Amino acid sequence: MFTLDSLALPVIGAPMAGGPSTPELAAAAGEAGGLGFLAAGYKDASAVADQITRLRRLSAGPFGVNLFVPDAAGTYPAAEQNQAGKAAARARRIEAARTFRDRLTAAEGPAPDGATITEPGIPDPNDDDGWQAKLALILRERVPVVSFTFGLPEPAIFAELAAQGICSVVTVTDAGEARAAAEAGADILCVQGPEAGGHRGTLDSGKPPGEAPLADLLVQVRQACPLPLVAAGGISTPEDASAARAAGADAVQVGTLLLLSNEAGTSRVHRSALTDAAQGRRDPVTSLTRAFSGRPARGLTNDFMRAYPDAPDAYPYVNHITGPLRAAAAAAGNQEAVSLWAGTGFRHAAQEPAAVILRRLFGPAG
Ligand SMILES: Cc1cc2nc3c(=O)[nH]c(=O)nc-3n(C[C@H](O)[C@H](O)[C@H](O)COP(=O)(O)O)c2cc1C
Repeated sequence: MFTLDSLALPVIGAPMAGGPSTPELAAAAGEAGGLGFLAAGYKDASAVADQITRLRRLSAGPFGVNLFVPDAAGTYPAAEQNQAGKAAARARRIEAARTFRDRLTAAEGPAPDGATITEPGIPDPNDDDGWQAKLALILRERVPVVSFTFGLPEPAIFAELAAQGICSVVTVTDAGEARAAAEAGADILCVQGPEAGGHRGTLDSGKPPGEAPLADLLVQVRQACPLPLVAAGGISTPEDASAARAAGADAVQVGTLLLLSNEAGTSRVHRSALTDAAQGRRDPVTSLTRAFSGRPARGLTNDFMRAYPDAPDAYPYVNHITGPLRAAAAAAGNQEAVSLWAGTGFRHAAQEPAAVILRRLFGPAG
């Protein structure tokens, strides 16, 4: 089974769903001596299978695939484990998402730069992001590493993966989640701090995500459980990587730092916003929002986030609702109505080969 100490460089290229993760980016992370990831979130199993095939053509090394755990398959927190509790929570979220859709429909009109906002979508009550099919694919393909975010699968799934020699990683955001993931059977924990770009991986989407900085969080998790730890969130320089390892991490995971890399599939509008923010052409501030998806996520602050600071806890339904708005904004190059996921270290993102970026993290100052 894969272990972190088999890596020549203790670095993981983060899974980044929605475009940035590509087989080329994952292969480049492997080429640098680290571990690359494919992001299976929002994709169906056959699209993920195609990416695995492409990646295996590019690289013979180990790699990971990241899955979103749907609420219905999650086992954390324990109080929601009974079916009635889960169904009630889901009904609450769908209702909140419908109300949010009504607000968006009422607010429809020209976006700040004059682009037209298209009709919001409808919540799909059955969305589980193709969970079963993707899990079956991971097992069938014997993917070396699988990582889970947004929830904790049941212990039987970890046992099945381990029996196939597949290493399981779970994203956690506090010590309680770390203990639960270790008990369920995870092999490695990805400890995600509040600096991280994209969605927080909190196992309970209704819980406000923790604010302890990554270095403190690592110490807390290290005390709570003995598993190997990967540190994620705002890691941008050799000093950041050393600090994370000094605080107890066995490896670091970087996402935002790779968003402008040559191999990333980051959209044009996202790339220009990152460059504009770094060069002072737009507000260089990131914040947490539920407005695009219903789950807290960090991105460059824009008008849509400012307009809906009170968006509901209703993932993944809000994600469906805002889909058409985001697609139209991206097509129009409108930075104000599309998610611009980025962590606090976005100024360090550079347009270079990913392997160069990753190797630099362990350069002279590291
Ligand atoms: C654009 C973007 C998309 C992301 N998508 C995912 C994802 O699909 N699955 C996941 O587990 N984490 C995702 N993340 C979070 C990363 O795994 C990681 O926690 C984060 O990038 C680390 O912080 P950093 O961005 O400051 O390096 C995403 C992050 C970004 C920036």
